Amino acid sequence: MILVTGSTGLTGRAVARSLDGRAPLRLALRNPGGAADLAVRGERVRFDFDDPASFGPALSGVTGVYLLRPPAMARPAAFEPLLAAMRAAGVRRVAFLSVRGAESIPLLPHRGIERRIEGSGLAWTHLRPSDFMQNFETVHRADIRDRGELWAPAGGGRASWVDVRDVAEAAARVLTEEGHAYRAYALTGPEALGFEDAARLFSAHVGHEVCYRRPSLPRYLWHQHRARRPAAFALVMAGIYTAQRLGLAAGTTPDLPRLIGRAPGSLERYIAGCSHQWRKPGGPAGATV
Ligand SMILES: NC(=O)c1ccc[n+]([C@@H]2O[C@H](COP(=O)([O-])OP(=O)(O)OC[C@H]3O[C@@H](n4cnc5c(N)ncnc54)[C@H](OP(=O)(O)O)[C@@H]3O)[C@@H](O)[C@H]2O)c1
Repeated sequence: MILVTGSTGLTGRAVARSLDGRAPLRLALRNPGGAADLAVRGERVRFDFDDPASFGPALSGVTGVYLLRPPAMARPAAFEPLLAAMRAAGVRRVAFLSVRGAESIPLLPHRGIERRIEGSGLAWTHLRPSDFMQNFETVHRADIRDRGELWAPAGGGRASWVDVRDVAEAAARVLTEEGHAYRAYALTGPEALGFEDAARLFSAHVGHEVCYRRPSLPRYLWHQHRARRPAAFALVMAGIYTAQRLGLAAGTTPDLPRLIGRAPGSLERYIAGCSHQWRKPGGPAGATV
């Protein structure tokens, strides 16, 4: 039995979909009565990272866990009771969704969590993906659709954006196949591209022109503040764009194709595959690949 945490979120939902039919599944939900749109076979169980009383029932009979750090959980030490509960429940492996470069940025909460997992006695695998392509839906959708803009203080830096569906497939393999214990995988997309390239691809596929604007970092932060975005979100995004501007987010690795047995999806394929999300209502259709 595999427990999927964050199963209403971006990656957990995709991991549950990848595991569906391959292993008995249990979906960890703060509200197990909700999430009616989760079209995945599996038990639903109440689970709250902030409520240790929910750990025992959720972990009973579980052998593998897909573990993520919800964005609001900043303290690595907060994971210790859950890791102890996993050990006590007889969990054999945990796949943790970390972040690319976590090993060299000790200030990130992800590295602190990785260290605690490594010291927990569980067989671990760290998945360290680069920036998700799906950020263009969650973070940039309105700018692209309504203003024809990609707005990010990333300069001319490139990122090896990765498709969450490929990350999910990697997680499913790690949790259902042997040979991945005590390893960390850097999961990247197939190529490193800049926002200028991304704007060109959006222009080709969403039916209107999309331009890349490069605000300065202070202007970006001021804009986020005016738009009443939470400060923690703005700072995390500023960190991601700064890493890209400094050239730290480029570069690809062979880990993902090796894990999933095929080339990961390209940014163009991703954009073309769900281009309706960025189209203006009533606008012309874009090209397809
Ligand atoms: N975006 C990127 O480019 C990127 C790249 C690499 C790594 N990451 C990492 O990915 C992680 C986020 O993963 P994601 O994008 O899948 O998250 P997400 O879409 O923001 O979803 C968060 C999930 O966690 C659940 N959750 C939140 N608080 C909870 C609690 N107290 N107890 C139980 N469940 C709780 C939410 O459930 P509810 O429905 O109940 O709220 C939701 O299912 C972060 O650690 C981030 O650093 C992101």
